[in-house]
Amino acid sequence: MTDFHTHILPGIDDGSQNVETSVQMLALAKEQGIDTVVATPHFNIEYESIEHFEHKRARAAEALKNAVKGTELEKMKLLLGAEVALTPGLSGKESIDRLCAEGTNCILLELPMNDWTSWVYNEVYAVTAMNYIPVLAHIERYTEIQANVKKINIFEEMDLCFQINSGSFFQFKYKKIINRFIKSGKAIVLGSDTHNMTTRKNDMGSAVSRIEKKYGKHIAERFERNAARLIDGSFEI
Ligand SMILES: [Fe+2]
Repeated sequence: MTDFHTHILPGIDDGSQNVETSVQMLALAKEQGIDTVVATPHFNIEYESIEHFEHKRARAAEALKNAVKGTELEKMKLLLGAEVALTPGLSGKESIDRLCAEGTNCILLELPMNDWTSWVYNEVYAVTAMNYIPVLAHIERYTEIQANVKKINIFEEMDLCFQINSGSFFQFKYKKIINRFIKSGKAIVLGSDTHNMTTRKNDMGSAVSRIEKKYGKHIAERFERNAARLIDGSFEI
């Protein structure tokens, strides 16, 4: 199983603050049935250069890999990526391909929480026009969508993928929105968006059991198939 959205790398954002926590998070991911983890630290091009981000991320990944060397956690596949804040003009910046999940053409985009004026839609569309596949992070969480679920119609016409947080399947307030997305038939992938071992732990395995029970095994399988295809490059909208 693939976890498409994690803050597992140590000391790089508001996720894991040290290597010990990152190792525990990786062990918990394994326990939840995950074998592929996409590390997606926050990145905002308005505050940081891609070079600086890559440097920091490589160092954090190396620290985690060194810490699990010789253990069974070493076998877990760790792909480097980013949770990229959607900002005006992002699509026009050079090198945004370097923000894609490692070895893929998928870019995890975090939209503003609200005030979705035309630039938001235009930027996402521009990313698709560059032949990248935007994966819209935790689509159920934006206040803009919670206020009016129809706001999603424009994105449904674009070639992209929606990511839903596993933890949201346990929260009543997201029920209606998640049902709407599942019914839409659009591509969905799961991510834990785990940040730590306390308040935001990885619960993907439990979420998948819940999804299987509530929506059917085929839905959970479809989510995982989408993730696998995004990673191996065979994904088609
Ligand atoms: Fe996140």
